[in-house]
Amino acid sequence: MKIDIITLFPTMFEKPFSESIIGRARKNKIVDITIWNLRDFSTNKHKTVDDYPFGGGGGMILAPEPFFRAVEHIKQVNRNLFLPRGKIILMSPQGERFNQKKAVELSHYDHLIILCGHYEGFDERIREYLAEEEISIGDYVLTGGELPAMVVVDSVVRLLPGVLGNSEATEEDSFSRGLLEYPQYTRPRDFRGYLVPDVLLSGNHKEIARWRREQSLLRTLKRRPEMLENCELTKEDIEFLKKLKIKGTASNNESRKKENI
Ligand code: ADE
Repeated sequence: MKIDIITLFPTMFEKPFSESIIGRARKNKIVDITIWNLRDFSTNKHKTVDDYPFGGGGGMILAPEPFFRAVEHIKQVNRNLFLPRGKIILMSPQGERFNQKKAVELSHYDHLIILCGHYEGFDERIREYLAEEEISIGDYVLTGGELPAMVVVDSVVRLLPGVLGNSEATEEDSFSRGLLEYPQYTRPRDFRGYLVPDVLLSGNHKEIARWRREQSLLRTLKRRPEMLENCELTKEDIEFLKKLKIKGTASNNESRKKENI
């Protein structure tokens, strides 16, 4: 996969993209990431990339020309590579909310061009005529699109074949099966009196698998019940959830009685 990122702050990407799994994926040539400085595509001698908004108001707006020129240059540079599936993504708090499904979808592209903004905003023509998709990483406003771009790249690159070893496999991730992850433990079995659940020491693989599944269901029901609507549940899962819900209602009733509600 080829990823090109256009930003006003290229050095922000140096460490996060050279360490750990992403650094290894780049070294192993599974992903080729290039960071471009938006200022290099400015057409004036002061290298400015923003301007005052038409109609007045405070703040500066990122102008369209440098972004359009940067994308044209990137396409030109990559023209000899076989990158049939490409997408130009604008990072913005107004975009579609990013999630694991989107990460999986983007991991099937050959080429991502990511536009990072800063300051008050983008000229609307960048959004309308250049970007093909607008992505937000959550309902909060950051100082720029750089951290969101890193989040998107990290979650996409780890899904590329060969990036994670078998032991780091993604199938058991929270979200990949539509459920939150079950609790994990390592040695010691007794840490300051806090014990590892017996079932994990039993050696009974069937029991362990069942316990893990049930813990995933329980955790999802407690923390993110809406996720259960969209995931594949077996008959046993549904039975287990029914029992939990009945228990939950019973204990709610108990506490209501106690509190005289
Ligand atoms: N730029 C600023 N805030 C952002 C957010 N939440 N998501 C994506 N890009 C952003």
